Amino acid sequence: MARVRHNVAKLPAGDQTLYWYNRAIGQLQQRPSTDPTSWEYQAAVHGKAGINEGPGSQQDPFLGQCQHSTWFFLPWHRMYLYYFEQIVAAEVAKLGGPADWALPYWNYCDTSDPDALKLPEAFRNPTLPDGSTNYLYVEDRGPNTNEGAPIIQSDAVALDKVLPQPGFSGTWPKGGFGGFQTDGANHDGGTFYQDSVESQPHNHVHVDVGGWMGDPDTAALDPIFWLHHSNIDRLWEVWRNIDPTTHLNPSDQSWLNNVTFQFHDVEGQAVTMSSSQVLDTTKLGYSYDDVSNPLAQPGADTALGAALPKAEVRMSDAIPPELVGATETSFEVHGEPVDINVPLTSPSSARANLTALGAANSADTETPPPQPRVLLQLENLTASAPARSYYVYVNVPPGATPEQHPELRAGRISLFGIAQASRATSQHAGSGQTHTLDITDIYHRLFQQAGQDPDRIRVTLVPVHDRAGAPITVGGVKLFFA
Ligand code: C2O
Repeated sequence: MARVRHNVAKLPAGDQTLYWYNRAIGQLQQRPSTDPTSWEYQAAVHGKAGINEGPGSQQDPFLGQCQHSTWFFLPWHRMYLYYFEQIVAAEVAKLGGPADWALPYWNYCDTSDPDALKLPEAFRNPTLPDGSTNYLYVEDRGPNTNEGAPIIQSDAVALDKVLPQPGFSGTWPKGGFGGFQTDGANHDGGTFYQDSVESQPHNHVHVDVGGWMGDPDTAALDPIFWLHHSNIDRLWEVWRNIDPTTHLNPSDQSWLNNVTFQFHDVEGQAVTMSSSQVLDTTKLGYSYDDVSNPLAQPGADTALGAALPKAEVRMSDAIPPELVGATETSFEVHGEPVDINVPLTSPSSARANLTALGAANSADTETPPPQPRVLLQLENLTASAPARSYYVYVNVPPGATPEQHPELRAGRISLFGIAQASRATSQHAGSGQTHTLDITDIYHRLFQQAGQDPDRIRVTLVPVHDRAGAPITVGGVKLFFA
């Protein structure tokens, strides 16, 4: 059975993909939550909300298995979608629909589509035109999501730093498209690589859609979850396709075969899978209608990306990371902008390095010497419930607002899964999330200006959304040259 996953925004008039998805969901929702092919159980494979007793209970090893902040993020979610698609497709066929039904994808990264940043229309209304229930709708979404407003921040889905990376993975501080390499399976806790597809756009889209989508425990109860992940899975194919000779999946056994995951198949039978079994989607019976490189199209530069000057500095991978600054206490952030001063712990070395950075940057030479990258690390972020996303700024001048200085914005962190990462369980230590941001370019520009304090930097966290979210604790902020 060859299935082709299509862009939901480009389905031709009269296409019935969503009609059948809708009807199948209605059926799956009627199955008891103990049935592994039920809607509720499938969602609980990701997070556990709603299932607390019986075979599908907290002790059920099939539940709460989502792989985040690990290089298993992409393969695990591919397996998860594969079985889900089989289950839905079997129901579609049973209802009299096409045998080759395939999950569509939501391409919020499509800069040529003015509606790409809105929740797709078919998901927004509680009822269908004939008055029957629209199972694609859920009430529990963020403000304006169901109203059809553009809810995703356009800079949160830019791919200009994510897709060009040659590596699938790596060890801190250098990750890759698929995140950081981790020892084994991992759930929620851990370190996120800023330029991984998991951080951007994946985590941002979860938080921007909001409601159930903003929490791993409930995310897969929203039918849009599956179209979001269909797009993330497609971006993996886009990345490989950009350069099949260098954009390679890992070849280590520790990724390919040594770690296995359990699911239920379309018959409800237990199955075990490893990454090596999901590298070729055609062997899984599906493909995407479009895996071309969106960055190759004219006008694909985002406004923010275009506004930032590009530093022409060669980075060295040989320089071992050096800690040059660290806070001594933790900080509480309550949804208001917060300034955090980071003293430089080894100012002389930092100054020496910065001098070299500045000299290299201003020198008019074709091949300046290799320079360290400057990394800002926000460590052990914890919260008791889903939290807001934050923009991170560096050295906003006194008296100015961060919004006046987009060139000083180091990035955005979306804390999808922070509550789970903050609870100590058998699966992780409860030490929260850690996010590393590359601020090399910003550092260069700052250092070229007069009046910067050489003994500290000031980091400002600014909430992305004007909406509710739990306060967070930032365990510490560190600065590295790496
Ligand atoms: Cu396991 Cu989009 O999350």
